[in-house]
Amino acid sequence: MNDLNEIVSQAKTAFAASTTLAALDQAKARFLGKGGLITEQMKGLGAMSPEARKEAGVRINQAKTEVEELLRMRREAIQAEALEAQLRQEALDVTLPGRGGGVGGLHPVTRTLQRIERLFASIGFDIAEGPEIETDFYNFTALNIPEDHPARAMHDTFYLDNGQLLRTHTSPVQVRYMQGHPPPLRIIAPGRVYRCDSDVTHTPMFHQVEGLWVDETVSFADLKGVLADFMARFFEREQLPVRFRASFFPFTEPSAEMDIGCVICEGAGCRVCSQTGWLEVLGCGMVHPKVFAHVGIDAERWQGFAFGLGVERLAMLRYGVDDLRLFFENDIRFLRQFA
Ligand code: FA5
Ligand code: MG
Repeated sequence: MNDLNEIVSQAKTAFAASTTLAALDQAKARFLGKGGLITEQMKGLGAMSPEARKEAGVRINQAKTEVEELLRMRREAIQAEALEAQLRQEALDVTLPGRGGGVGGLHPVTRTLQRIERLFASIGFDIAEGPEIETDFYNFTALNIPEDHPARAMHDTFYLDNGQLLRTHTSPVQVRYMQGHPPPLRIIAPGRVYRCDSDVTHTPMFHQVEGLWVDETVSFADLKGVLADFMARFFEREQLPVRFRASFFPFTEPSAEMDIGCVICEGAGCRVCSQTGWLEVLGCGMVHPKVFAHVGIDAERWQGFAFGLGVERLAMLRYGVDDLRLFFENDIRFLRQFA
């Protein structure tokens, strides 16, 4: 009995002194191996009387179980320590900044949109939005472009299978907004528009900002003043030459297109302005009475002006970019210049 207790306590000490699994295996052999201390005890059983053998057998088995349990616990402890050590060694500081992480920036079209919105908001324009998938009614009919009107052909419309279309301009937002808001009203409506054409100066998707100001006394003089002032502020010029050329839109009367003195060559003539010294930046005019009629506004009492400008056009001029498609290729070398 004393021998067995002594053996168990020796095993405990030997296991505790083993710091690796290999050392532990060696220690194990000393107790449970072929010539191990426990095994030796078993061999002694044969020489005993049956009674004594029975009792001693139970004692030895108990001791064996204890040693095995000590061994198992120590093995687990060594494995846990090894795992801990490995985790410590392989630890990553996930809070360290990554290598080569560049600073992002807003896309030049986004920056231009935000600049336009800021400038109009500063003189009291609200911002409105409308869907990019439109109905024929909002994109055309309500804007006094009835079916079979030749102006529809100029719009290069993408039609959807269900009869709806991708809006070709932001002007349908005029109609939607006036349906829900009685005058006086003063809004801009920025957004994407789609036309089925593509070349150096045209892309199938581009951005417009619509403007609409309806009140009892809004005149063409207000239109000219607001837009001339906007352009001067947008391009940060005290004196920016502007001109209004008579034009035609079914939803405005009279209609005009606005040119600004070329900001690239200061009017001398260059590639961007096709040697004219002038750049077309938007279409505009006084809201047509038939548009008011479609939304139930009394054209005898209310009048207003509207305009629609091409955002990429303004971005090109502001940043001196001479190819519209650069804005949509997303070449990182191009975009990085605006970060
Ligand atoms: C219109 O879209 C009218 N809805 C503008 C308007 C609104 C007039 C309210 C009167 C009252 P227009 O098709 O000219 O007009 O387009 C306006 C501007 O969008 C153009 O001056 C041009 O700057 C830009 N634009 C037109 N087509 C493209 C295109 N494919 N790619 C890039 N910009 C374009
Ligand atoms: Mg035009």
